[in-house]
Order: sequence, then C-alpha cells, then structure tokens
Amino acid sequence: MEFKTIIEPFRIKSVEQIQLSTAEQRQKFIREAHYNPFLLRSNQVIIDLLTDSGTSAMSADQWAAIMRGDESYAGAESWYRFESAVSDLTGMPFILPAHQGRAAERILYSIRGGKDKMFVSNTHFDTTRANIEFTGAMAMDIPVKESANFSSEERFKGNLDLKLLEDQILANGPENMGGVIVTVTNNSGGGQPVSFSNLKEVSRICRQHNVMLILDACRIAENAYFIREFEKGCEQYSYSEIARMMCDLCDAVIMSAKKDALVNMGGFLALRDKKLADECIQSLIITEGFTTYGGLSGRDMEAIAVGLKEVFNPDYLRYRVRSTGYLGDSLKKSGIPVMSPSGGHAVYIVASEFYSHIPVNQYPGQTLVCELYKAGGIRAVEVGSVMFGKYDEKGDLIPARYELVRLAIPRRVYTQSHIDYVIEVCDHVYKNRKEARGMKITYEPGFLRHFTSRFEPV
Ligand code: F0G
Repeated sequence: MEFKTIIEPFRIKSVEQIQLSTAEQRQKFIREAHYNPFLLRSNQVIIDLLTDSGTSAMSADQWAAIMRGDESYAGAESWYRFESAVSDLTGMPFILPAHQGRAAERILYSIRGGKDKMFVSNTHFDTTRANIEFTGAMAMDIPVKESANFSSEERFKGNLDLKLLEDQILANGPENMGGVIVTVTNNSGGGQPVSFSNLKEVSRICRQHNVMLILDACRIAENAYFIREFEKGCEQYSYSEIARMMCDLCDAVIMSAKKDALVNMGGFLALRDKKLADECIQSLIITEGFTTYGGLSGRDMEAIAVGLKEVFNPDYLRYRVRSTGYLGDSLKKSGIPVMSPSGGHAVYIVASEFYSHIPVNQYPGQTLVCELYKAGGIRAVEVGSVMFGKYDEKGDLIPARYELVRLAIPRRVYTQSHIDYVIEVCDHVYKNRKEARGMKITYEPGFLRHFTSRFEPV
C-alpha cells in the first residue's frame, strides 16, 4: 500500500533557532532596510524564501566529506573527487572550478562576449545578463509563447522558441552569435522546466549553424525529474542519465553548485573545446585561483562531489518537486495568482495580478515582498521591473516582461508546517490586497539594481 502523504525523506540532526518577531518590529526593520528585503538582517526574517541558492542543508555525508578536505594548493585529492563527479554529470573533458556560478559566467562571457555579439536564451538570469551586457554584448530572451500564459497547466514552459532562435541566428549571422544559453530550469521565466526534445532541437540548430550551446545547469536534477515524469519516452532513463544526456547535447555547462549540488558555495565551467578551455583557464588563474581549486577550498569541493550524487536520489527529487507543488497548489486554492504549473525550486506569484490596482512603474512586486515581510516575516524576491526594468532616453521605465514575486524554497531546510505558515500569511496578505500601495525608487545603482536599491511607499 502506498500512502498519499509525502514525507521529508530525511530527519533533522542539527537545528538552527529561528528568531520570531512582532508585526511592529518588522514595520521598523523593513523601513530601516529601505523597503528592500535584500537589506534586512537574516535574524529579522522568520522564513527566508529569498533564494534557494547556497541555502541548502547539507547531509551528514557531506559534513563527513568536509573533514577529509585536502587543502593542498595544487593537485589536491579533493579536486580529483570533485572533477570526477562533475565529469560524470557533464561528460566534458575540461572542468574549471569557480567559487560560484557568476564567476564561471564572467570567465566564459568575457571571452565569448564583446561589442556586436548576441546571446539568446530561454531567459537570461540576472547575473548572466549582467555578465554579458558588461562586455558590450546583447542578451535576448526568446522563451516559447506559452511561457507568458501563467495559468495554463502545460508542461515545459521553459522551452526556447525554435523559430525565433533560427531567426536570430540568421539576422545576426552565426559568426556574431556569442552563444545560445539554455537555463534549466528556467529560473527567471518562472522556474519552468525545459523538455529534452526542445533541447535536442536547439542543439541541432546550433550545430547546423556552428553556434555555441551553453547549458546553465544550476537546477539540472530538478529539470531531469520533470523530463522523466512528464516527457514521453524518457521514463526509461534514470534522473542522472537524463542529466547526462542533456549535457551531451551542449558545448559547455555552467553550474552554480549552490543549487542542485546541495552546497553553500561553489560552481564550475565545463567545456568541450580545448582552445576555449585554454583561454578560460588563463582568466581562471588570474581571478579565481589555480586550476585545481578555482576559488574553492578542498572541503567545498568534497561537499559538491557528494551533493552532485545525492541530488539525483529519486526519493529526494520526488519530495522536492512535490513539496514545491504543495505550496503552489495551496496558494492557488486561496485564489492567489501563481504561475502554473509549479516548477521545482520556487513558486512565483504574479504580482501584477495580485495587485492589479498598482501600476507597473510603482513596482507591484516590490510592494508584495514588503507586505509578505511585514505580515509574517517572510522574505521573498521581486522578479519584475525592479530586477529587469530599464529606462528609455526620456527616463521612462521600460518594464520587464513579467511582474513576479518568487518564493524560493531552500533545499531540505523547511518542514511542511513552515510551508503551511507561509500559505496562511500569503492568504492574509491577499485578503488585504486592496489597501496596499505602490513603491518608488529613491536610490539605485547602474547594474543589478535590485540588490541595493532603496524604496519608499508612494
Ligand atoms: N544562473 C542561474 C539560472 C541562477 O539562478 C543563478 C543564481 C546563477 C546563474 C548565478 O549563480 O549565484 O552562484 O553566482 N541564482 C540565485 C537565485 C542567486 O537566487 O536564483 P551564483
């Protein structure tokens, strides 16, 4: 007999106290943080859903592996264990360790980018876009049209639009294409998965035109879960086999290990081409570290090597995706507009519908993250015009494609009662939505403004 309750497939060995607070305290905290949850102290937060990145709880096996970290400058045993795990996952001959995803991005895109270069992606993550645009290159998002339909239950809304891909390659000329980036799962596009068949077609088109295909593999295990469960013909493969088959279609794999490697820090760049690898290695040594540690301690590499195996455990992946779905489905039942179906790592609230009375240039998503914090001490992140908006020559806002708020779920950290609390708080904020006001920006930097911008209620 199979019971319907899906339990957390782990038990708790070490705990971390959550500091509770009152609504009055939180009013003061968020005002002092200039209405930007990135500027809160973590002990002012009750449930931290800001990110699933670097926030995983590590397993006893990972902590044990940390103890055998070999901190030799060159040729550490830990490096060889790390390299072997990354090589099993990606099948790539050249593996460059990096301290996190964006360091690997900077190395690759500063070499592949530059003025007149074009990158296309299902959706560039913010650091990906910033690293590309910083070199003077352009970054264009070409997700499939269904990705804009938040309520449809269609699977694989993270797919790339194949027609637009071909159009862009022909319009720019293959020689001006810096690369095609497929992000799995499509984080900034609602955490939606990419199908194997879509990636295969993207790969065929890239190979036909000799354009480089890069897999942003942060959440590749979660994406592999969706492929195996929902794509015809894929159920015969294991999750790790599917992940490897995805990498096999690409020329490079970039991974922030802070997600699906279940660690707090780390990343890598894996490449097929020796000439490009040699160029990247130079940059790696100058800025990150020697080729056998690249900004990581031996113990970090040990934890990654273990995490990259653990994450493909079927019980873990099933729990992971089903528990995220539980949050998404419960919010939907309360009438809250969320992106459907739920992805693997997060639930995305459609802030523009949640606060339909707040115009885009008053940042409904920023209002929502502040209200969630004030009501229940929940920290979430705006993924909308604060993160991705631009200005035209007149200084008017060019809004982002969508106004979303992401509730990202740290891996193996919160239990169902924590999530039930989140559901109750969201429900309360939704019932009082009419009283909420928009926000205006009082300070902003030039790049990645969401991290440090300051706001005031209008
Ligand atoms: N690519 C994707 C798809 C990401 O989600 C992230 C990070 C990165 C690259 C950069 O990796 O943080 O290790 O430098 N995403 C985090 C998030 C920050 O909250 O979604 P990093």
